[in-house]
Amino acid sequence: MEKRTLREIILKSGENLILREPEEGDAKGMIEYLNTVGGESDNLLFGKDEFHLTVEQEIEYIKRVRNDSDTLMVLAIIDGCIVGIAQISCLPRKRISHNSELSISVKKDYWGKGIGSALMQELISFANNHSLIKNISLGVKASNYNAIKMYEKFGFTKVGVHKNYFYVNGTYDDEIIMDLYLNK
Ligand SMILES: CC(C)(COP(=O)(O)OP(=O)(O)OC[C@H]1O[C@@H](n2cnc3c(N)ncnc32)[C@H](O)[C@@H]1OP(=O)(O)O)[C@@H](O)C(=O)NCCC(=O)NCCS
Repeated sequence: MEKRTLREIILKSGENLILREPEEGDAKGMIEYLNTVGGESDNLLFGKDEFHLTVEQEIEYIKRVRNDSDTLMVLAIIDGCIVGIAQISCLPRKRISHNSELSISVKKDYWGKGIGSALMQELISFANNHSLIKNISLGVKASNYNAIKMYEKFGFTKVGVHKNYFYVNGTYDDEIIMDLYLNK
């Protein structure tokens, strides 16, 4: 499987950020990354060490994603290490496949450097260039202020609420549903 680099950026910090699609050799690093970021905030759907795919299962997942023209997964890499992962996918049923959903995370040591924004730009550009996608949706914990600010910066608006959708460490929190309707 060929490595496909989407973009290289010099961050304000001077670090060199590579944005590229995953390949099979990334499987172990991606599992370690997800098990780490799960414990760095209460804002993801899994906590520390709660991401349970084996390396073989992750390789199969990477192959499926790379062969799916309705999905883009992007890794953010600094100094050879995965520091962020983001994904956008069309919904699978034909009648709703012009809608897409995204997910995004960045390693805590790297927050606030522009990596989340760089990943968001790739996902939105994929959606803009995709023949079907008209809308991008996401769900975010109501208390996840930084993420909500980031989504608003990219034009997402709040369209709904799932009351007490999250239950993390004994506390309920709402899920805010946000949409970005593409002008195309
Ligand atoms: C949300 C997240 C992806 C942002 O990544 P990041 O690399 O820190 O993002 P950036 O540095 O590009 O900042 C993007 C925007 O987010 C907002 N933001 C980020 N940190 C902020 C802070 N401390 N205070 C206010 N706004 C903030 C700002 O709008 C910022 O844009 P600006 O710098 O132009 O003002 C990251 O914090 C993260 O992974 N959090 C844990 C996982 C998570 O919550 N994922 C989303 C689940 S829905």
